[in-house]
Amino acid sequence: MPGIAIIGAQWGDEGKGKVTDLLAEHAEMIVRFQGGNNAGHTIVRDGEEFKFHLIPSGILYADKTCMIGNGVVLDPRILLGEIDGLRRRGVDVGNLKISANAHLIMPYHVLLDTAGEVKLGKLSLGTTRRGIGPCYADKALRLGIRVQDLLDEKILRTKIRTALEPKQQALRELSVQRRKLRKEAGEGAAPRSEQAIEDAPDPRLDLHTMTEEYVSYGHRLEPHIADTARLCWDALDAGRTVIFEGAQATLLDLDHGTYPFVTSSNPIAGAATVGAGIGPADIDEVWGVAKAYATRVGAGPFPTELGDAVGRHMVERGHEYGTTTGRERRCGWIDLVALRYAVRLNRMSALAITKLDVLSGLETLRLAVRYRSREGAVLDRFPYHQSILHGVEPEYEEMPGFESDIGECRTEGDLPRQARDFLAYIADFVGVPIRLAGVGPGREQSVMLN
Ligand code: GDP
Ligand code: IMO
Ligand code: MG
Repeated sequence: MPGIAIIGAQWGDEGKGKVTDLLAEHAEMIVRFQGGNNAGHTIVRDGEEFKFHLIPSGILYADKTCMIGNGVVLDPRILLGEIDGLRRRGVDVGNLKISANAHLIMPYHVLLDTAGEVKLGKLSLGTTRRGIGPCYADKALRLGIRVQDLLDEKILRTKIRTALEPKQQALRELSVQRRKLRKEAGEGAAPRSEQAIEDAPDPRLDLHTMTEEYVSYGHRLEPHIADTARLCWDALDAGRTVIFEGAQATLLDLDHGTYPFVTSSNPIAGAATVGAGIGPADIDEVWGVAKAYATRVGAGPFPTELGDAVGRHMVERGHEYGTTTGRERRCGWIDLVALRYAVRLNRMSALAITKLDVLSGLETLRLAVRYRSREGAVLDRFPYHQSILHGVEPEYEEMPGFESDIGECRTEGDLPRQARDFLAYIADFVGVPIRLAGVGPGREQSVMLN
């Protein structure tokens, strides 16, 4: 099948990196189409761990083209760090292509992201503070700076000047406001993480310094800059397999997720068309990736969240700490109401259920099959109204758990009956076959299912 989208079916960190790496074996090209270095995708090969924030998870294959599509927001400093890190580990990045139309994350985007979060205080979203939201906002405002602008110093300087002015003003006002508030509250110095926004004028916001810095990034990235959409068409038209690697996930989608507790891009399958420059008919298969339970980083509704020993089991056994920010992930039971919503929204053709091994040792497994609203109404569908979602209580199907360590299972028949029944229940409930089950972080710790 030529076009395959791999999409997060929950709140992120489902194991998209691992699944992409596995499926990429049969692909020619792997394309990121949205998000930025808020993503953290992990691959474990032969015991060696790789974490990617911007580089597509196909990069470990020397013969595949990896592309950063136009829909991505790209922090060049982070990308170059990733490229250098891979080179040091002997990974060839010569096949990395970057869309000239991708937007650049600038230092002021990162500062504004932090400033926005600090200003929201208790109401903060828990963003990754990587500048994602402010960068996409500038894109929509037509104040964005694109990869192609790195190649012309004059254009770059003019664009930075235009974009910078309102940011400096906003940050200055915020800095004054913050100082005043801190003084009124009798607080001492700002915490380290917030100092940058109080230190106006921040040296990173100097037009000359910023232009020079970004010109130098341009020199280094130039060999990778390409017409990525055209490369995609060429591969698809020749019948070759192209993987569209999603970042973040369905419930973090700007339009269809739990707004405002979402990211600022569209991680759903439909967005691969815009973010890579292809048509809807170019996507032949959509694989959703979900954990056998659920996690979320940052704020926002999470109906099945657990604050008990089972939640601790998931954190500890699943090493549920963010790949990008190191924050402990909130954990809970798998939510089939939300998963069925994600399946339909992306029109998934297959599911990969990862981290099944993490459930081993739990006597009873639970799967949320409906919600009950504050008023007592039974909800079979994911509610479109945010206030309802905030108030729902999930109702669970209970299934017997399994004791044994399943990390060595490689075929469906190796899995304990309870684990197979658990997977069968999920597939039946959401109406999509499960094609892959993860039984450990290693590449080989995967069970392909019919
Ligand atoms: P992504 O953002 O969707 O690519 O996922 P992350 O890499 O942020 O988080 C997934 C984590 O789970 C990583 O540490 C993976 O190595 C790990 N992982 C992936 N699949 C499995 C699995 O089947 N079992 C276990 N135990 N860990 C897994
Ligand atoms: P991958 O691709 C999990 C979350 C943040 C926050 C919200 C908005 O590794 O699955 P942002 O910085 O995007 O403005 O933050 O989205 N978030 C993720 N959570 N995995 C991710 O990526 C995420 N990327 C963003 O925690 O709640
Ligand atoms: Mg991740």
